[in-house]
Formats: sequence, structure tokens, C-alpha cells
Amino acid sequence: MNVLVTGGAGYIGSHVVLALLDAGHSVVVIDDLSTGCSDNLPSDIPFFHVDIRDEQALRACFEKHSIDAIIHLAAKKAVGESMKHPELYFSVNVEGTRVLAQEARRAGVKTFVFSSSAAVYGNPSESPVTEHTPLAPESVYGVTKKMGEELLLWFGFTLVNLRYFNVVGYDPSGRITVPEKQPQNLFPILCETGVGVRERVQIFGTDYDTRDGTCERDYVHVTDLATAHVRALSLDESITLNLGIGRALSVRECVYAAQEVFGEFAVEDAPRRPGDPAAYYANPSRAQNVLGWEAQITDPVEMITTMKPLYE
Ligand code: WQD
Repeated sequence: MNVLVTGGAGYIGSHVVLALLDAGHSVVVIDDLSTGCSDNLPSDIPFFHVDIRDEQALRACFEKHSIDAIIHLAAKKAVGESMKHPELYFSVNVEGTRVLAQEARRAGVKTFVFSSSAAVYGNPSESPVTEHTPLAPESVYGVTKKMGEELLLWFGFTLVNLRYFNVVGYDPSGRITVPEKQPQNLFPILCETGVGVRERVQIFGTDYDTRDGTCERDYVHVTDLATAHVRALSLDESITLNLGIGRALSVRECVYAAQEVFGEFAVEDAPRRPGDPAAYYANPSRAQNVLGWEAQITDPVEMITTMKPLYE
């Protein structure tokens, strides 16, 4: 297949591009390089330095390349920032998806794989979270992802809608060399602290009603996630799939795993971060059944080991 990957130079996108090429697909990448990095892309694939809201530029891309399917990852993704700048999130994540959908339909593309998020569930009413768990996003980011899901369905595409849980790690074979800039999430923060770029890690909340009092999340490795995208291309009906490993790790367990990889570093108990749900994890059985997909990397030490070389 000839697959267009929007956001293909980003953290998840660059791994999806590698997985597509490994599986023998052709790839075209669109990225505005606002957070992505072209050094993480093979130099011989067609690359468009384009904002997905730019109708003319998208049209030129579709005129130049015959696209069989689109994996749409281009988006703003910081929850905190989305609350401060809702206009940016509605513009890029919703209006950008609208323009892309319009130009894709014009070009005769039928299939979309969409990068959605567990953020559409908000503070999930049950765990494990299934695809039937009620949607109740609690951030602008989560709302824009939910709107993106709906928009693509209403445009009539065959939509494989992938709801990611907490994505971590890097390509274990070392093909990605530039880590995300200004990371906001726990695992990259652990790595930066491990190599001394940060002085300490703060644990946001130690009094939750959980195994050890810290928040629990379902961390899924980016390489496993990328595999799911490739398999999603072979589906011919619209479906929503949760992508997680089906098990939760606490913040403290992640800290211990990072200390096993990097050695001891300073850790500080800190107040709860507003808006954080105590605990949730995915029920990934639908993805397992439909895609024959199962996460291969489930040990946090192994996950962090794949990140270490990028921070040294
Ligand atoms: C994980 C846990 C923190 C930093 C968010 C979005 C979600 C998805 C992934 C995009 C939490 C704790 C963190 C730190 C800490 N985003 N923590 N100290 O909030 O679960 O999920 O990112 O699609 O939609 O909501 O991820 O990595 O920020 O936090 O104690 O310095 O680590 O409180 O419990 P989160 P995270």
C-alpha cells in the first residue's frame, strides 16, 4: 500500500513509518515539524513540510501521490497546554482533521487509521476500560480527539480508530536518534533525571487509593503500538480499538524501574497534579482479537532500556 502518515516525523509517527517500511509498504509523510524531527525519518521517503490546515498544500500532495490509506497522527497533544490554549487545539486537531478529510475524500481515499487517545474516556468510570466505557473527556485535548473520531466517521471513511493509553519507549534497534523536545510525560522525565538533566523526579500524589498510593497507568511500548497501526490497514470495516497492555503500573513502580536502568536519583513526594485520575488500564482484548495484536514489551525496565541511548 502507499500510506500517507501525517505527523510522521513525530514521536509516534516516526515509529509508525519504520513499521510500515519494515512491512513492505510505501510511505509519504506530512509534518509541520513543530515538534517532530526530520532526522528521525529515512531520507529517501517523500516528505512534505506542511501544516494539515493548509488546503492547497494537501491538495498538491494528493495530486503528486496516489494514496491508498492515511494514518493520521498530526496533532497537538499536551493536555495542560490544551486547557490554556483551546483555540490552538480546536484549530489543529479538529479543523486540521476537517481539511485533511476534505482533501482525502476529494482524492478518493477511503481508509483512515486515526490516532485517538484514552483521554476521550476522561476519568474512566470503570477499569479495565473497554471500547464501551462511556466517553467523558475532561480536557480540551480529549474533546478534540473525540471530535476527530466523529468527524472522520461522518465523512464516511472506513475508520480504524486507535485509542492509545500511555505510550512510552523508543525503537529497540536504535533507528530513532532524537528524543522528544520538552517532554511532559513521566517516562521521558524519568530518563532526563536518570542522566542528570533534571535534579529530581516529583511523584504527583502519594495518597491515592491505589496499591502504593501513587497513580496507576497502562504503559504501552511505541513499537508495539506502531505494529497495531500496520495491522489496522488490513481491516475493511470501521472499528475502535483500545491499545494498552491490559495492566497498570504505579508511578513508584516506574521510578524503581528507571533507577534499575540508570542507577539511583533523587525522588520527591509532591502534591497531586490537578485532574489526574487515580488509576485506569485498558482491556485490549478487542485489538487482540481483531488485529491478532499483543504487546511484546511489557516490562517497564525493558521499556526504559529502549529509551536510555537517546538520553545519554
Ligand atoms: C503519568 C503518571 C502523573 C510526571 C497523559 C494524557 C494522555 C496521553 C498520555 C496523549 C501520572 C505521574 C508524571 C511527573 C509524576 N496523552 N507523573 N511526575 O497524565 O497519565 O496521560 O499523557 O495522548 O491522554 O492525559 O501521563 O506521563 O503525564 O503521567 O508523578 O513528573 O505519572 O501524575 O499519574 P498521563 P503522564
